[in-house]
Amino acid sequence: MNSPTSVWLNCKAATMQTGAAQPYGLIDDAALVVGGGRLKWVGLRRDLPAELMASCLHTHDVHDARGAFITPGLIDCHTHLVYGGNRAGEFEQRLNGVSYEDIAKAGGGIASTVQATRLATELELTKQSAPRLLALMAEGVTTIEIKSGYGLALEHERKTLRVARALAAAHPVTVHTTFLGAHAVPPEFLGRSDAYVDEVLRMLPILHAEGLVDAVDAFCERIGFSVVQTERVFAAARVLGLPVKLHAEQLSDSGGAQLAARYKALSCDHLEWLSDAGVQALAQAGTTAVLLPGAFYFLRETRLPPIAQLRSAGVPLAISTDCNPGSSPCTSLLLMLNMACTLFRLTPHEALAGVTRNAARALGLKDRGVLAAGMRADFLLWDVQSPAELSYTFGSCPRLQTVFNGLIL
Ligand code: NIG
Ligand code: FE
Repeated sequence: MNSPTSVWLNCKAATMQTGAAQPYGLIDDAALVVGGGRLKWVGLRRDLPAELMASCLHTHDVHDARGAFITPGLIDCHTHLVYGGNRAGEFEQRLNGVSYEDIAKAGGGIASTVQATRLATELELTKQSAPRLLALMAEGVTTIEIKSGYGLALEHERKTLRVARALAAAHPVTVHTTFLGAHAVPPEFLGRSDAYVDEVLRMLPILHAEGLVDAVDAFCERIGFSVVQTERVFAAARVLGLPVKLHAEQLSDSGGAQLAARYKALSCDHLEWLSDAGVQALAQAGTTAVLLPGAFYFLRETRLPPIAQLRSAGVPLAISTDCNPGSSPCTSLLLMLNMACTLFRLTPHEALAGVTRNAARALGLKDRGVLAAGMRADFLLWDVQSPAELSYTFGSCPRLQTVFNGLIL
Protein backbone atom coordinates (compact mmCIF):
# COMPACT_ATOMS: atom_id res chain seq x y z
CA MET A 1 0.00 0.00 0.00
CA ASN A 2 1.12 3.54 -0.68
CA SER A 3 1.25 5.90 2.25
CA PRO A 4 -1.39 8.67 2.21
CA THR A 5 0.75 11.28 0.48
CA SER A 6 3.52 10.68 -2.01
CA VAL A 7 5.40 12.88 -4.42
CA TRP A 8 6.93 12.16 -7.81
CA LEU A 9 9.98 14.21 -8.75
CA ASN A 10 12.58 14.32 -11.51
CA CYS A 11 10.09 13.96 -14.33
CA LYS A 12 8.56 15.75 -17.27
CA ALA A 13 4.78 15.76 -17.49
CA ALA A 14 2.36 15.88 -20.41
CA THR A 15 -0.66 17.02 -18.41
CA MET A 16 -2.94 17.13 -21.49
CA GLN A 17 -4.82 20.03 -19.93
CA THR A 18 -6.79 22.14 -22.38
CA GLY A 19 -5.80 25.73 -22.87
CA ALA A 20 -2.27 25.08 -21.54
CA ALA A 21 0.44 27.39 -22.85
CA GLN A 22 2.66 24.47 -23.94
CA PRO A 23 1.66 21.72 -26.36
CA TYR A 24 0.63 18.57 -24.45
CA GLY A 25 0.32 20.83 -21.38
CA LEU A 26 4.01 20.15 -20.98
CA ILE A 27 5.80 20.73 -17.68
CA ASP A 28 9.56 20.38 -18.06
CA ASP A 29 10.65 19.79 -14.48
CA ALA A 30 7.46 18.57 -12.84
CA ALA A 31 6.27 17.41 -9.45
CA LEU A 32 3.12 15.38 -8.83
CA VAL A 33 1.66 14.90 -5.37
CA VAL A 34 -0.67 11.94 -4.81
CA GLY A 35 -2.96 11.29 -1.88
CA GLY A 36 -6.01 9.11 -1.34
CA GLY A 37 -5.92 7.84 -4.91
CA ARG A 38 -6.10 11.37 -6.31
CA LEU A 39 -3.66 13.89 -7.66
CA LYS A 40 -3.36 16.58 -5.00
CA TRP A 41 -0.98 18.86 -6.78
CA VAL A 42 0.64 18.99 -10.26
CA GLY A 43 3.04 21.66 -11.40
CA LEU A 44 6.58 22.89 -11.74
CA ARG A 45 8.96 21.38 -9.20
CA ARG A 46 10.10 24.82 -8.12
CA ASP A 47 6.51 25.84 -7.33
CA LEU A 48 5.82 22.80 -5.12
CA PRO A 49 4.54 24.15 -1.79
CA ALA A 50 7.05 23.44 0.98
CA GLU A 51 4.42 21.97 3.32
CA LEU A 52 3.40 19.38 0.71
CA MET A 53 7.02 18.36 0.19
CA ALA A 54 7.48 18.20 3.96
CA SER A 55 4.50 15.87 4.41
CA CYS A 56 5.92 13.55 1.74
CA LEU A 57 9.35 13.57 3.37
CA HIS A 58 7.63 12.80 6.64
CA THR A 59 6.10 9.62 5.18
CA HIS A 60 9.32 8.81 3.26
CA ASP A 61 7.21 8.59 0.14
CA VAL A 62 9.30 10.44 -2.40
CA HIS A 63 9.65 8.82 -5.82
CA ASP A 64 12.47 9.58 -8.22
CA ALA A 65 11.04 9.22 -11.74
CA ARG A 66 14.61 9.32 -13.16
CA GLY A 67 13.75 11.71 -15.93
CA ALA A 68 10.73 9.74 -17.17
CA PHE A 69 7.84 11.34 -19.04
CA ILE A 70 4.54 11.17 -17.19
CA THR A 71 1.17 11.12 -18.96
CA PRO A 72 -2.34 10.41 -17.77
CA GLY A 73 -3.33 6.73 -17.81
CA LEU A 74 -4.53 5.68 -21.25
CA ILE A 75 -8.25 5.24 -21.86
CA ASP A 76 -9.51 2.80 -24.49
CA CYS A 77 -13.02 4.17 -24.96
CA HIS A 78 -14.50 1.72 -27.52
CA THR A 79 -13.93 -2.02 -27.28
CA HIS A 80 -15.80 -5.26 -27.78
CA LEU A 81 -13.16 -7.08 -25.75
CA VAL A 82 -15.38 -9.85 -24.37
CA TYR A 83 -16.13 -12.40 -27.08
CA GLY A 84 -15.76 -16.08 -27.80
CA GLY A 85 -13.60 -17.63 -30.54
CA ASN A 86 -12.01 -15.66 -33.34
CA ARG A 87 -12.58 -14.95 -37.02
CA ALA A 88 -9.24 -15.84 -38.58
CA GLY A 89 -11.14 -17.98 -41.11
CA GLU A 90 -13.07 -14.93 -42.31
CA PHE A 91 -9.82 -13.03 -42.56
CA GLU A 92 -8.68 -15.71 -45.01
CA GLN A 93 -12.00 -15.46 -46.88
CA ARG A 94 -11.61 -11.71 -47.19
CA LEU A 95 -8.12 -12.22 -48.58
CA ASN A 96 -9.72 -14.41 -51.21
CA GLY A 97 -11.95 -11.54 -52.25
CA VAL A 98 -15.14 -11.85 -50.17
CA SER A 99 -16.18 -8.54 -48.58
CA TYR A 100 -16.92 -7.86 -44.88
CA GLU A 101 -20.52 -6.99 -45.75
CA ASP A 102 -20.99 -10.11 -47.91
CA ILE A 103 -19.68 -12.32 -45.10
CA ALA A 104 -22.15 -10.68 -42.72
CA LYS A 105 -25.04 -11.13 -45.18
CA ALA A 106 -24.16 -14.83 -45.56
CA GLY A 107 -24.62 -15.37 -41.82
CA GLY A 108 -20.95 -15.01 -40.87
CA GLY A 109 -19.41 -11.93 -39.35
CA ILE A 110 -20.92 -10.78 -36.07
CA ALA A 111 -23.31 -13.77 -36.15
CA SER A 112 -20.43 -16.26 -36.04
CA THR A 113 -18.96 -14.55 -32.97
CA VAL A 114 -22.43 -14.58 -31.42
CA GLN A 115 -22.50 -18.35 -31.83
CA ALA A 116 -19.07 -18.80 -30.21
CA THR A 117 -19.91 -16.37 -27.40
CA ARG A 118 -23.19 -18.10 -26.62
CA LEU A 119 -21.43 -21.46 -26.42
CA ALA A 120 -18.82 -20.23 -23.92
CA THR A 121 -19.47 -20.31 -20.18
CA GLU A 122 -18.87 -17.20 -18.10
CA LEU A 123 -15.58 -18.67 -16.93
CA GLU A 124 -14.45 -19.63 -20.44
CA LEU A 125 -15.33 -16.18 -21.71
CA THR A 126 -13.37 -14.59 -18.89
CA LYS A 127 -10.36 -16.78 -19.68
CA GLN A 128 -10.50 -15.91 -23.37
CA SER A 129 -10.92 -12.19 -22.75
CA ALA A 130 -8.43 -11.61 -19.92
CA PRO A 131 -5.29 -11.86 -22.12
CA ARG A 132 -6.68 -9.11 -24.34
CA LEU A 133 -7.23 -6.89 -21.34
CA LEU A 134 -3.77 -7.66 -19.99
CA ALA A 135 -2.18 -6.78 -23.34
CA LEU A 136 -3.90 -3.39 -23.31
CA MET A 137 -2.95 -2.79 -19.69
CA ALA A 138 0.69 -3.66 -20.45
CA GLU A 139 0.73 -0.62 -22.72
CA GLY A 140 -0.74 1.67 -20.08
CA VAL A 141 -4.51 1.36 -20.36
CA THR A 142 -6.03 2.21 -16.96
CA THR A 143 -9.64 2.72 -18.08
CA ILE A 144 -11.45 0.69 -20.71
CA GLU A 145 -14.94 0.58 -22.12
CA ILE A 146 -16.29 -2.89 -22.87
CA LYS A 147 -19.45 -3.41 -24.92
CA SER A 148 -21.78 -6.35 -24.96
CA GLY A 149 -23.28 -7.22 -28.33
CA TYR A 150 -22.09 -10.75 -29.06
CA GLY A 151 -24.75 -12.35 -26.86
CA LEU A 152 -27.89 -10.82 -28.39
CA ALA A 153 -30.15 -12.68 -25.96
CA LEU A 154 -30.77 -11.80 -22.34
CA GLU A 155 -28.73 -14.58 -20.72
CA HIS A 156 -25.79 -14.11 -23.07
CA GLU A 157 -25.76 -10.31 -22.95
CA ARG A 158 -25.87 -10.66 -19.17
CA LYS A 159 -22.99 -13.14 -19.29
CA THR A 160 -20.86 -10.78 -21.38
CA LEU A 161 -21.49 -7.81 -19.09
CA ARG A 162 -20.85 -9.91 -16.00
CA VAL A 163 -17.52 -10.99 -17.49
CA ALA A 164 -16.67 -7.31 -18.04
CA ARG A 165 -17.47 -6.58 -14.39
CA ALA A 166 -15.50 -9.66 -13.28
CA LEU A 167 -12.47 -8.52 -15.28
CA ALA A 168 -12.68 -5.17 -13.49
CA ALA A 169 -12.82 -6.86 -10.11
CA ALA A 170 -9.80 -9.03 -10.90
CA HIS A 171 -7.52 -6.38 -12.43
CA PRO A 172 -6.29 -2.89 -11.55
CA VAL A 173 -8.27 -1.15 -14.28
CA THR A 174 -11.57 0.74 -14.49
CA VAL A 175 -14.12 -0.93 -16.77
CA HIS A 176 -17.01 1.07 -18.15
CA THR A 177 -19.72 -1.19 -19.59
CA THR A 178 -21.92 -0.45 -22.57
CA PHE A 179 -25.02 -2.42 -23.56
CA LEU A 180 -24.87 -3.01 -27.32
CA GLY A 181 -27.88 -5.31 -27.65
CA ALA A 182 -28.63 -3.60 -30.97
CA HIS A 183 -25.39 -4.78 -32.57
CA ALA A 184 -26.88 -7.27 -35.03
CA VAL A 185 -30.10 -9.21 -35.55
CA PRO A 186 -29.53 -12.68 -34.09
CA PRO A 187 -30.39 -15.75 -36.24
CA GLU A 188 -33.59 -16.54 -34.34
CA PHE A 189 -34.94 -13.09 -35.29
CA LEU A 190 -33.82 -13.19 -38.92
CA GLY A 191 -36.13 -11.03 -41.04
CA ARG A 192 -37.82 -9.72 -37.87
CA SER A 193 -35.53 -6.92 -36.85
CA ASP A 194 -38.32 -4.82 -35.28
CA ALA A 195 -39.25 -7.75 -33.07
CA TYR A 196 -35.60 -8.02 -32.04
CA VAL A 197 -35.56 -4.33 -31.13
CA ASP A 198 -38.57 -5.10 -28.89
CA GLU A 199 -36.37 -7.74 -27.27
CA VAL A 200 -33.51 -5.24 -26.82
CA LEU A 201 -35.97 -2.91 -25.08
CA ARG A 202 -36.99 -5.77 -22.79
CA MET A 203 -33.37 -6.65 -21.95
CA LEU A 204 -32.14 -3.14 -21.22
CA PRO A 205 -34.04 -2.34 -18.00
CA ILE A 206 -33.37 -5.82 -16.63
CA LEU A 207 -29.61 -5.60 -17.17
CA HIS A 208 -29.58 -2.02 -15.93
CA ALA A 209 -31.37 -3.05 -12.73
CA GLU A 210 -28.65 -5.66 -12.22
CA GLY A 211 -26.04 -2.89 -12.26
CA LEU A 212 -24.46 -4.11 -15.47
CA VAL A 213 -24.98 -1.11 -17.77
CA ASP A 214 -23.17 2.23 -17.74
CA ALA A 215 -24.15 3.36 -21.25
CA VAL A 216 -26.09 2.23 -24.33
CA ASP A 217 -24.82 1.84 -27.90
CA ALA A 218 -26.25 0.62 -31.24
CA PHE A 219 -24.93 -0.25 -34.69
CA CYS A 220 -26.80 2.12 -37.00
CA GLU A 221 -26.01 0.77 -40.47
CA ARG A 222 -27.59 -1.02 -43.41
CA ILE A 223 -26.25 -4.31 -41.97
CA GLY A 224 -27.26 -3.16 -38.47
CA PHE A 225 -30.27 -1.09 -37.41
CA SER A 226 -32.12 1.78 -39.05
CA VAL A 227 -32.27 5.30 -37.62
CA VAL A 228 -35.88 4.65 -36.55
CA GLN A 229 -34.92 1.43 -34.75
CA THR A 230 -31.89 3.08 -33.16
CA GLU A 231 -34.07 5.90 -31.89
CA ARG A 232 -36.29 3.39 -30.08
CA VAL A 233 -33.21 2.11 -28.26
CA PHE A 234 -32.05 5.64 -27.42
CA ALA A 235 -35.48 6.61 -26.12
CA ALA A 236 -35.43 3.58 -23.80
CA ALA A 237 -31.95 4.57 -22.57
CA ARG A 238 -33.19 8.08 -21.88
CA VAL A 239 -36.04 6.77 -19.74
CA LEU A 240 -33.44 5.02 -17.58
CA GLY A 241 -31.18 8.07 -17.50
CA LEU A 242 -28.41 6.21 -19.34
CA PRO A 243 -26.06 8.03 -21.73
CA VAL A 244 -25.92 6.87 -25.34
CA LYS A 245 -23.23 6.47 -27.98
CA LEU A 246 -23.44 5.18 -31.53
CA HIS A 247 -21.61 3.16 -34.17
CA ALA A 248 -22.46 5.54 -36.99
CA GLU A 249 -21.56 6.11 -40.64
CA GLN A 250 -19.00 3.29 -40.74
CA LEU A 251 -19.96 1.76 -44.09
CA SER A 252 -22.51 4.30 -45.34
CA ASP A 253 -24.07 7.64 -44.38
CA SER A 254 -27.31 6.73 -42.64
CA GLY A 255 -27.74 9.98 -40.71
CA GLY A 256 -27.04 8.23 -37.42
CA ALA A 257 -24.82 11.07 -36.26
CA GLN A 258 -27.70 13.55 -36.42
CA LEU A 259 -29.85 11.18 -34.37
CA ALA A 260 -27.05 10.70 -31.85
CA ALA A 261 -26.64 14.47 -31.59
CA ARG A 262 -30.35 14.89 -30.87
CA TYR A 263 -29.91 12.53 -27.94
CA LYS A 264 -26.78 14.41 -26.80
CA ALA A 265 -24.74 11.24 -27.29
CA LEU A 266 -21.44 11.03 -25.47
CA SER A 267 -19.79 9.84 -28.65
CA CYS A 268 -20.30 8.89 -32.27
CA ASP A 269 -17.84 6.27 -33.44
CA HIS A 270 -16.25 5.22 -36.80
CA LEU A 271 -17.66 8.08 -38.96
CA GLU A 272 -15.89 7.37 -42.27
CA TRP A 273 -19.08 8.38 -44.14
CA LEU A 274 -20.04 11.30 -41.90
CA SER A 275 -21.64 14.18 -43.86
CA ASP A 276 -21.11 17.91 -43.34
CA ALA A 277 -24.51 18.09 -41.67
CA GLY A 278 -23.40 15.27 -39.38
CA VAL A 279 -20.23 17.16 -38.44
CA GLN A 280 -22.26 20.26 -37.54
CA ALA A 281 -24.73 18.21 -35.51
CA LEU A 282 -21.93 16.63 -33.47
CA ALA A 283 -20.31 20.01 -32.91
CA GLN A 284 -23.54 21.56 -31.65
CA ALA A 285 -24.30 18.64 -29.36
CA GLY A 286 -20.78 18.55 -27.88
CA THR A 287 -20.53 14.88 -28.92
CA THR A 288 -17.04 13.38 -29.15
CA ALA A 289 -16.01 11.73 -32.43
CA VAL A 290 -14.30 8.40 -31.73
CA LEU A 291 -11.98 7.44 -34.59
CA LEU A 292 -11.07 3.79 -35.03
CA PRO A 293 -8.03 3.49 -37.28
CA GLY A 294 -7.67 -0.24 -36.56
CA ALA A 295 -11.01 -1.04 -38.19
CA PHE A 296 -10.25 1.33 -41.08
CA TYR A 297 -6.94 -0.45 -41.62
CA PHE A 298 -8.14 -4.01 -41.14
CA LEU A 299 -11.17 -3.61 -43.43
CA ARG A 300 -8.90 -1.80 -45.91
CA GLU A 301 -11.31 1.13 -46.06
CA THR A 302 -10.35 3.91 -48.42
CA ARG A 303 -12.74 6.62 -47.33
CA LEU A 304 -11.30 8.70 -44.51
CA PRO A 305 -13.40 10.22 -41.74
CA PRO A 306 -13.78 13.99 -42.40
CA ILE A 307 -10.97 14.88 -40.00
CA ALA A 308 -10.38 18.43 -41.23
CA GLN A 309 -14.08 19.27 -40.97
CA LEU A 310 -14.36 17.74 -37.50
CA ARG A 311 -11.28 19.63 -36.42
CA SER A 312 -12.45 22.99 -37.73
CA ALA A 313 -15.92 22.49 -36.24
CA GLY A 314 -14.25 21.93 -32.87
CA VAL A 315 -15.51 18.36 -32.38
CA PRO A 316 -13.28 16.61 -29.78
CA LEU A 317 -11.49 13.62 -31.34
CA ALA A 318 -10.90 10.38 -29.44
CA ILE A 319 -9.01 7.29 -30.63
CA SER A 320 -9.65 3.70 -29.67
CA THR A 321 -8.75 0.13 -30.61
CA ASP A 322 -12.33 -1.04 -31.32
CA CYS A 323 -10.86 -4.37 -30.10
CA ASN A 324 -13.17 -6.96 -31.67
CA PRO A 325 -12.81 -10.22 -33.63
CA GLY A 326 -14.22 -8.99 -36.97
CA SER A 327 -13.04 -5.54 -37.88
CA SER A 328 -10.17 -4.83 -35.47
CA PRO A 329 -8.58 -7.78 -33.67
CA CYS A 330 -6.22 -5.34 -32.02
CA THR A 331 -4.93 -5.11 -28.45
CA SER A 332 -2.51 -2.22 -28.88
CA LEU A 333 -3.69 1.31 -28.14
CA LEU A 334 -0.17 2.59 -28.88
CA LEU A 335 -0.42 1.18 -32.39
CA MET A 336 -3.67 3.13 -32.76
CA LEU A 337 -1.80 6.33 -31.92
CA ASN A 338 0.59 5.64 -34.76
CA MET A 339 -2.21 4.72 -37.16
CA ALA A 340 -4.24 7.79 -36.18
CA CYS A 341 -1.27 9.86 -37.31
CA THR A 342 -0.22 7.89 -40.40
CA LEU A 343 -3.68 6.95 -41.72
CA PHE A 344 -5.85 9.82 -40.43
CA ARG A 345 -3.15 12.53 -40.30
CA LEU A 346 -3.79 13.48 -36.70
CA THR A 347 -0.91 15.20 -34.99
CA PRO A 348 0.80 13.22 -32.20
CA HIS A 349 -0.66 15.76 -29.78
CA GLU A 350 -4.20 15.14 -31.08
CA ALA A 351 -3.59 11.39 -30.97
CA LEU A 352 -2.47 11.48 -27.33
CA ALA A 353 -5.41 13.72 -26.41
CA GLY A 354 -7.56 11.11 -28.17
CA VAL A 355 -6.58 8.37 -25.72
CA THR A 356 -6.59 10.57 -22.62
CA ARG A 357 -8.64 13.75 -22.28
CA ASN A 358 -11.06 13.15 -25.16
CA ALA A 359 -11.41 9.43 -24.48
CA ALA A 360 -12.52 10.32 -20.94
CA ARG A 361 -15.04 12.68 -22.47
CA ALA A 362 -16.32 9.93 -24.79
CA LEU A 363 -17.15 7.96 -21.64
CA GLY A 364 -18.57 10.91 -19.73
CA LEU A 365 -15.81 10.58 -17.11
CA LYS A 366 -14.77 13.92 -15.68
CA ASP A 367 -12.24 12.63 -13.13
CA ARG A 368 -9.48 11.42 -15.48
CA GLY A 369 -7.74 11.99 -18.80
CA VAL A 370 -5.62 14.94 -17.65
CA LEU A 371 -3.04 15.43 -14.92
CA ALA A 372 -4.46 18.03 -12.57
CA ALA A 373 -5.28 18.39 -8.89
CA GLY A 374 -8.49 16.54 -8.03
CA MET A 375 -8.16 13.98 -10.84
CA ARG A 376 -7.74 10.27 -10.22
CA ALA A 377 -4.10 9.31 -9.70
CA ASP A 378 -3.96 7.11 -12.82
CA PHE A 379 -0.73 7.91 -14.63
CA LEU A 380 2.12 6.39 -16.59
CA LEU A 381 5.89 6.75 -16.63
CA TRP A 382 7.44 6.44 -20.07
CA ASP A 383 10.98 6.04 -21.31
CA VAL A 384 10.65 8.74 -23.98
CA GLN A 385 12.22 12.13 -24.57
CA SER A 386 9.04 13.68 -25.98
CA PRO A 387 5.39 12.60 -25.97
CA ALA A 388 5.44 12.53 -29.79
CA GLU A 389 7.50 9.33 -29.49
CA LEU A 390 4.39 7.51 -28.26
CA SER A 391 2.84 8.02 -31.70
CA TYR A 392 6.07 7.83 -33.67
CA THR A 393 7.22 4.33 -32.78
CA PHE A 394 5.12 1.26 -33.39
CA GLY A 395 5.60 -2.32 -32.30
CA SER A 396 7.44 -1.30 -29.15
CA CYS A 397 6.29 -0.18 -25.74
CA PRO A 398 8.30 2.38 -23.78
CA ARG A 399 6.09 2.13 -20.66
CA LEU A 400 8.14 2.01 -17.48
CA GLN A 401 5.48 2.03 -14.80
CA THR A 402 1.76 2.38 -14.21
CA VAL A 403 0.26 4.13 -11.21
CA PHE A 404 -3.42 3.21 -10.81
CA ASN A 405 -5.59 4.89 -8.21
CA GLY A 406 -2.40 6.13 -6.56
CA LEU A 407 -0.87 2.66 -6.32
CA ILE A 408 2.24 1.60 -8.20
CA LEU A 409 1.52 -1.55 -10.22
O1 NIG B 1 -17.05 -1.70 -34.30
N1 NIG B 1 -19.44 -2.13 -36.48
C1 NIG B 1 -19.86 -2.92 -35.71
N2 NIG B 1 -19.19 -3.57 -34.77
C2 NIG B 1 -17.79 -3.84 -34.76
C3 NIG B 1 -17.44 -4.99 -35.60
C4 NIG B 1 -18.07 -6.20 -35.12
C5 NIG B 1 -17.61 -7.46 -35.78
O2 NIG B 1 -17.34 -7.52 -36.99
O3 NIG B 1 -17.57 -8.44 -35.01
C6 NIG B 1 -17.01 -2.60 -35.10
O4 NIG B 1 -16.34 -2.50 -36.13
FE1 FE C 1 -17.09 -1.12 -32.49
